Amino acid sequence: MFSKLILNQKPKENYMTKILIATDKPFAPIAVKGIRKVVEEAGFELAMLENYTIQADFISAVADDVDAVIIRSDKADKAVIDAGKSLKIIVRAGAGYDNIDLQAATEKGICAMNTPGQNSNAVAELALGMMVYHARNFFNGKSGFELKDKKLGIHAYGYVGKNVARIAHGFGMKVFAFDPFISKTEIEKEGVTAVASAEELYSTCNYISLHLPANSQTKQSINYALLSKMPAPAVLVNTARAEVIQEADLIKLFADRKDFAYLSDVEPTNKTEFEANFKGRYFFTPKKMGAQTEEANINAGIAAVRQIVNFLKNGDRTFQVNK
Ligand code: 3PG
Repeated sequence: MFSKLILNQKPKENYMTKILIATDKPFAPIAVKGIRKVVEEAGFELAMLENYTIQADFISAVADDVDAVIIRSDKADKAVIDAGKSLKIIVRAGAGYDNIDLQAATEKGICAMNTPGQNSNAVAELALGMMVYHARNFFNGKSGFELKDKKLGIHAYGYVGKNVARIAHGFGMKVFAFDPFISKTEIEKEGVTAVASAEELYSTCNYISLHLPANSQTKQSINYALLSKMPAPAVLVNTARAEVIQEADLIKLFADRKDFAYLSDVEPTNKTEFEANFKGRYFFTPKKMGAQTEEANINAGIAAVRQIVNFLKNGDRTFQVNK
């Protein structure tokens, strides 16, 4: 498939290799500065598209002479990929690459990558931060409760899950995890109790923190059957993706169980139903902000640009996700 890269050559001679940062939610300026430095040291050119509101802007920014794109949750869909006449690589500065049309990229011989682990501490801090915010009644002055000794279940034990475990241990929480792709030994060496199934995790823990990617196996997988196993009072924390939740089931569960709370870094599509019926039992960030820290932006942004330079100069495909 990668012989097709030859097709993606620029038509003109003496061009500079161009890297586009396309971020509707911009990186911190310090991260952009760092990315620019790497681009310039490589002898490349940097183009910026920030705070755009319509996809057509992304499509026209990528057209003709852009060799590489760095995105966050921006949608690198088929239209973007088709428009990128010189495009050779797309790097998602972050973990989840469900926003890249991998099939379209593969068909055009474009390499897609992510930057695993680079923003994971930021996301983990937000997960715990939302738990504290909720436990203290959203800081309204009324008496709340503590996280110490509460049981926390981590659903998917990747980079973010590991950081959640580390911070939760600092709070004195009892930490459990379920991940079918990671061995019990690997999980338990960090003082976390590995359980054998999602059902066991949800039956055991009052808190569940989701760290699943959104894919065909996980979409809509967090449903009534699973959530209703949680002992009361139950708190579901979602810093992963809205799509993994069966939203109609969550509403049904909220109606059936007054003890249930939902804290999410991704607004559900049925947010108005929560607002109308379940005041005080949910919190949604207005914009996805798990990775919105200078540190995470620097780590993920610089990793992304280095991966691009290594790919374009040396053919390095480490972190490629469309293999
Ligand atoms: C990720 O997948 O890395 C996170 O969801 C962060 O997304 P963001 O870069 O759009 O904030």
